[in-house]
Amino acid sequence: MESSQLESILKGRSSQPHLLIEVLQDVQECCGYVPEDAMRRISEILGVPLIEVYRVASFYKAFKLTPSGKNIITMCMGTACHVRGAQLLADQASGHLKVEPGEMTEDGLFSIEHVNCLGACALGPIVTENASSHHHVTPSKLRKLIDKLRSEEEGGACNA
Ligand code: FES
Repeated sequence: MESSQLESILKGRSSQPHLLIEVLQDVQECCGYVPEDAMRRISEILGVPLIEVYRVASFYKAFKLTPSGKNIITMCMGTACHVRGAQLLADQASGHLKVEPGEMTEDGLFSIEHVNCLGACALGPIVTENASSHHHVTPSKLRKLIDKLRSEEEGGACNA
């Protein structure tokens, strides 16, 4: 995050600790996550102890503390999806992309996230990528989906 962006977000909010969540939301929206240096600056300007800024930023799932990949693979790990093989899919995604949930691939193209329920339990296991939802996902479908996304990123033909 460029410091001018952060200063713009903080402008007019000096010494107003009650604006912490609002400021964190603005940083998240601007940057895609809340960087550590931004938390330090927010602490200074709002007059909120750094530990409190970190506590709030790490408590709410809406805030990310690390950058996300360009493509976010969200895997439902709720009960209905779990009994239909979500853990197998999660293991496969981590193995295929070589990242754990919450991490980003080295090339910055992918992140994996786990959620508890996406609200379509009867169609599980559910996986979403970016704004698209996929139901009754199998290991084969998941691999093809990831390969297709990677191929699109590389400008090549679809492998699916
Ligand atoms: S448990 Fe997966 S959609 Fe509800």
